[in-house]
Amino acid sequence: MASDQRTPLIAGNWKMHGALAESRELVASIAAGVAGATGVRVLLCPPYVYLTSVAEWIAGSEIALGAQDLSEQTGTGAYTGEIAGGMLTDVGCSYVIVGHSERRSIYGETDSQVAAKFQAAQSQGLTPILCVGETLEQREAGQTQDVVAGQVQAVLDAAGIEAFAQAVIAYEPVWAIGTGLTATPAQAQEVHALIRGMIAALDGTIAADLSVLYGGSVKGANAGELLAMDDIDGGLVGGASLSADEFLAICRAASS
Ligand code: PGA
Repeated sequence: MASDQRTPLIAGNWKMHGALAESRELVASIAAGVAGATGVRVLLCPPYVYLTSVAEWIAGSEIALGAQDLSEQTGTGAYTGEIAGGMLTDVGCSYVIVGHSERRSIYGETDSQVAAKFQAAQSQGLTPILCVGETLEQREAGQTQDVVAGQVQAVLDAAGIEAFAQAVIAYEPVWAIGTGLTATPAQAQEVHALIRGMIAALDGTIAADLSVLYGGSVKGANAGELLAMDDIDGGLVGGASLSADEFLAICRAASS
């Protein structure tokens, strides 16, 4: 039985999409659609420059705000182009995505940099959503479990098990992100169970309360069967979070 802390979390990761006017419409539709919804937590992660606006548009709703990345540097300083965790809390964020596969593969973020970002987020009062997942090549080579375990272990080594009491993990098979291919519920559950098992081996309570999200082409049509799995506690939703109808369908699947 999942704990209350594992009330399904549906997080929209807009990536580098949207203009201000269309974002406003999207947020208004999502906010109207989830008003009064129970049994689901909703989080929106727009691009940095829209955070302040989205914070205003969701004020008074139950929707939470998150960022897609942060600097591993804490405090302020001469780091041109970087955004510190404290700046994110300052504009109303409570979550931040760290180690998304696009950050790892396109921008070369390493496991140790991801771990530093995870710690920087927590030091500023943000809940990090740690993304892990294997490429198609790694899956076909039978390396899925090793890759995912290694990515989780890197953060465990740096931050310690206690840090996972205030964190979320998102399993996102790289081959399923933005491709329309989705892990089957059984494939996803297998990896989610591995992740929870790693945490449980160190602390059973933290493991029981840990939300492990699935990401990779989640949409209204497949959300129900994924969320029905024991260890899938929500979704990290990219493309479908740009459509209010799709996103709300996922939220409905989560709350039922
Ligand atoms: P997708 O993206 O839903 O478009 O596959 C998920 C993600 O990258 O978080």
